[in-house]
Amino acid sequence: MRIIRKPRDLRTLSERWRNAGKLVGLVPTMGALHAGHLALVRASVARCDRTIVSVFVNPKQFGPREDLKRYPRPFARDCALLRRAGVDAVFHPSACSMYGPDFATTVEVGGTLTFGLCSPHRPGHFRGVATVVAKLFNIARPHAAFFGAKDFQQAEVVKRMARDLDMGVEVVVLPAVRERDGLAMSSRNAYLSPEERAAAVALSRSLRAGAAEIGRGNRAAREVRAVMRRILAKEPLARVEYLDINDAGTLRPLVRLKGRVLMALAVRLGGTRLIDNMVMRVPARPGSRRRVVGNR
Ligand code: PAJ
Repeated sequence: MRIIRKPRDLRTLSERWRNAGKLVGLVPTMGALHAGHLALVRASVARCDRTIVSVFVNPKQFGPREDLKRYPRPFARDCALLRRAGVDAVFHPSACSMYGPDFATTVEVGGTLTFGLCSPHRPGHFRGVATVVAKLFNIARPHAAFFGAKDFQQAEVVKRMARDLDMGVEVVVLPAVRERDGLAMSSRNAYLSPEERAAAVALSRSLRAGAAEIGRGNRAAREVRAVMRRILAKEPLARVEYLDINDAGTLRPLVRLKGRVLMALAVRLGGTRLIDNMVMRVPARPGSRRRVVGNR
């Protein structure tokens, strides 16, 4: 497994692979890898001839009061995991090699995808994500890139960018990987105290309660959200940042629930912000069995 730090070197390697007819997969990450990341890596290794994993804590997607400085960076451990998973190259650039002093370009996905959910709470976040992912696509030149539905809005933004800008990259989105008790895996779970970790199970519990309420035939978003909020209110440590039910395609908020809906929430536990979501198809007839789509 090669460890590559310079964008130019990765570009050269990837071009060589492409010219030899190899299918190249890319898994963009910020490191501190867990089973969720490794599921994306496994999918790339299975589907592609060569897999590149980027490990880069992208400063442009963090707000001024966010956790850029304390974000975990266990790079040697990450490399050991990636080597074992059969990865061909790890791209681990410095911030200066990605963003020179005169860096002046940003990629912004507008429209309904970036109105709500995390956008108003993390101004500039998706601009930072789209910009770095565009750069990673240009540097690694992958045929396919793998993302997690755990960050549903991010995956939608990346898919739209790739499509709108004709990037020629197939964006593959895989379901969220969870701990046994339902907590979605996240590098930020490491910040949680034992009490906060115990309270964190309320996020997935709230989503399941929402799905059950929809399954019982309730089609009023406000009422379903109230059911979900009640679960979170039982945890004194949890402060809800947002709890929304949106159309899963447009990401517009819904009043009456129909079609494919996204239940999404962001919750603060002490100094840690966690997000989670569930997508389900609302049954046409109230009372018929619910079907969870994509993200279990
Ligand atoms: P990071 O949080 O490291 O996540 C990297 C990829 O792993 C993302 O596509 C994310 O959705 C996916 N992922 C995280 N937790 C997951 C889980 N529990 N199950 C399945 N997939 C999971 O997301 C980022 O980094 C950055 O924004 C990035 C796209 C790398 C751009 O900087």
